[in-house]
Amino acid sequence: MEVKKAVIPAAGLGTRFLPATKSMPKEMLPLIDRPVIQYVVEEAIASGIDDILIITGRGKRAIEDYFDNSPELEMHLQQHHKEALLKQIQDISSMVDIHYIRQKEPKGLGDAVLRAEKHVGDDPFAILLGDDIIVNDVPCTRQLINVFQKYRCSVLAVEQVPDHKVSSYGIIKGKPVEDGLCTLEDIVEKPPLEQAPSNMGAIGRYVLTPEIFDCIKQTKRGAGNEVQLTDGIRLLKGFQKVYGFSFHGRRYDTGDQVGYVQAIVEFALNNPELRENLLEHLKSLVK
Ligand code: UTP
Repeated sequence: MEVKKAVIPAAGLGTRFLPATKSMPKEMLPLIDRPVIQYVVEEAIASGIDDILIITGRGKRAIEDYFDNSPELEMHLQQHHKEALLKQIQDISSMVDIHYIRQKEPKGLGDAVLRAEKHVGDDPFAILLGDDIIVNDVPCTRQLINVFQKYRCSVLAVEQVPDHKVSSYGIIKGKPVEDGLCTLEDIVEKPPLEQAPSNMGAIGRYVLTPEIFDCIKQTKRGAGNEVQLTDGIRLLKGFQKVYGFSFHGRRYDTGDQVGYVQAIVEFALNNPELRENLLEHLKSLVK
């Protein structure tokens, strides 16, 4: 069975970027010339997804506007013969079928995912967090779908996280199955370093079976007084196998200030039109 649907939760408050996120979704913060969420949507499409549900909330209208048609802007670009830009703008609105649903209150990632239950139905589906970007030739979501197709079980992308970050992640205890793949024996949200079962953290990519919805419904508020997806997965792995997969690729956590700046600098250095000027400027700063 192909995984064709994806859910992109983007209803979080983004408090780490206040005050910028007071009136602007953090998913709309630009990486050079396009917002973070565009990279996430492009990853989903490149992975074979053809139906995307974005979970939005109060103050997130800019996301819907971004993926919508913009007739006035398009007419302006046409009149001023800016064909290349016009094509870019039109491509954005015709990328894929995007649906929206609102999470009335940001009660946590688990609660945000639960909003997708009706839309997802009985199919396995992908989740891509709206502020995590992963760069690789084979998109991370495609890698997870490939694992899903082989084992027919839920799978989450994991990576080693530094000690000082362990208490910010869902941390897994895994039993190796093959190179880069383990079965989940446990998963704990934001454990103190001393109590963490490992330093392998779940990052923002998942392929889950629809049974996750019932598991989330049974989940009480956990870390940070939020309904945690991690706690739902913990229940799920009690009656279905769940895998952790060490994905290939470079990840940027753009919901974090340092991660965001790293992404901008690295993306600019990879852009031939920007690279030389930026390098010169950076060198002048450290002289
Ligand atoms: P984060 O843990 O990054 O939380 O959420 P946040 O609220 O967005 O940001 P900070 O920590 O306050 O700065 C991880 C993902 O889950 C979504 C976010 O939009 C982000 O993509 N999320 C989180 C929701 O959709 N709803 C929620 O209630 C919480």
